[in-house]
Amino acid sequence: MKDKLIVFDTTLRDGEQSPGASMTREEKLRIARQLERMRVDVIEAGFPAASNGDFESVKAVADTIKDSTVCGLARAHEADIRRCAEAIKGARSGRIHTFIATSPIHMEKKLRMQPEQVLEQAVKAVKWARKHTDNVEFSPEDAGRSEVDFLCRVLEAVIDAGATTINIPDTVGYAVPEQFGNLIRALRERIPNSGKVVFSVHCHNDLGLAVANSLSAVLAGARQVECTINGLGERAGNAALEEIVMAVRTRRDVFACDTGIDTTQIVPASRLVAGITGFAVQPNKAIVGANAFAHESGIHQDGVLKSRETYEIMRAEDVGWGANKLVLGKHSGRNAFRSRLQELGILLDSEEALNAAFSRFKELADKKHEIFDEDLQALVSEEAAMHDVSEHYKLVSLRAHTETGETPHAFIVISEDGRERRAEADGSGPVDASFKAIEKIVGSGADLQLFSVNAITSGSDAQGEVTVRLHKAGRIVNGQGADTDIVIASAKAYLSALNKLHSRLERAHPQV
Ligand code: KIV
Ligand code: ZN
Repeated sequence: MKDKLIVFDTTLRDGEQSPGASMTREEKLRIARQLERMRVDVIEAGFPAASNGDFESVKAVADTIKDSTVCGLARAHEADIRRCAEAIKGARSGRIHTFIATSPIHMEKKLRMQPEQVLEQAVKAVKWARKHTDNVEFSPEDAGRSEVDFLCRVLEAVIDAGATTINIPDTVGYAVPEQFGNLIRALRERIPNSGKVVFSVHCHNDLGLAVANSLSAVLAGARQVECTINGLGERAGNAALEEIVMAVRTRRDVFACDTGIDTTQIVPASRLVAGITGFAVQPNKAIVGANAFAHESGIHQDGVLKSRETYEIMRAEDVGWGANKLVLGKHSGRNAFRSRLQELGILLDSEEALNAAFSRFKELADKKHEIFDEDLQALVSEEAAMHDVSEHYKLVSLRAHTETGETPHAFIVISEDGRERRAEADGSGPVDASFKAIEKIVGSGADLQLFSVNAITSGSDAQGEVTVRLHKAGRIVNGQGADTDIVIASAKAYLSALNKLHSRLERAHPQV
């Protein structure tokens, strides 16, 4: 019997700390449902004390998810911990994750606290958390650069105070695999009460070593890994969930543990997160990149045709790569539509929402004869985004003109809080002209940081899914739009980003 390796996903918390990856409550819920379907053990849903919006998102995830533990992050302050406890109160299984920095540089320069004060605060934090739940995780932030003797003292004390999981973060991605594995081994051996807790690791990817460091820690006895879909996260990101899970599964001969993950849900999760955050997956990314299972060279192709094991160590279908599935068409009815959404785990919360989504589906089916799962996901995602953030700006109509040798021109009508406004502009292309026309009306002055178009399925009638990232006064937001006409998809994405800027959700960063 192998040990269980607990998979703790922090896409919704650390992943969201990537500049530009902030998600709405509805988007977080969609990702959380996919994580639950993938059988992630613990979902870190956010940092409730950051803002009311974050609190509401964590609460919504806690109230919805049944099969995974829902965790909230809290600094080692009583008010943060209380807020976190309140947010996860509705969870069938909830966890409070509290942390304080223990490295000399963080204690001196960031916290301006003496080591003894940090130790005392850590113990208090765990005790406060234990008043609300018996599932408490403690992290000594920047453990990778902390002194081992001090770490041992802090961890022994927080275990005595009631922590049930001890997470060792390599906050700045400084560790290297052998040394990090040795650190975990040393902590387990030297801390007298270490046997009472699960050891966890949380590695950042600044040196490209997050997965290697996490796996080295697993070999040294860690039994929880913190990771994110597509390796999303602060700066260079966190350890990628898909890489950890597939490494442990593929190299069963090396690892004395296994995860409970349904690996066929990995690619759908990767697509969902990439679509919502606008952080595209590079084609050569392990497991979830478009080329991860593509064999180009003749020798490889020949080998794979004779026996796939010659060049393949995993099967594409085991991680969820499948042929695009034709699901519905123009003549499909409401029931077929509803049941396919259910199979995809998409739950619309009212008949009204289902009707709205169904009528958009009919419009799409008129333009595009074959509707695939990905089309449905994009359609529902747009629908959800509209409900989540108030639709202050809405596209009414768009006419764009392009002709060889002529300056592209766009004429747009949008409604602003119900009032129709129109403008026209020239641009270097129809998308540029449309954005300029929108700006003539809105005058947001936001910087366009990212414009990306992705064909949702294959074929020239595919829908284009556009992500627009805007930056204004320190805030970064992503907007998405999908349509078979990519100029219209772009205008929708731009307006969706403007709606998010308009909603003015403010939030604090947990580690600053
Ligand atoms: O990287 C880090 O140290 C963190 C902690 C809050 C666990 O994200
Ligand atoms: Zn982190």
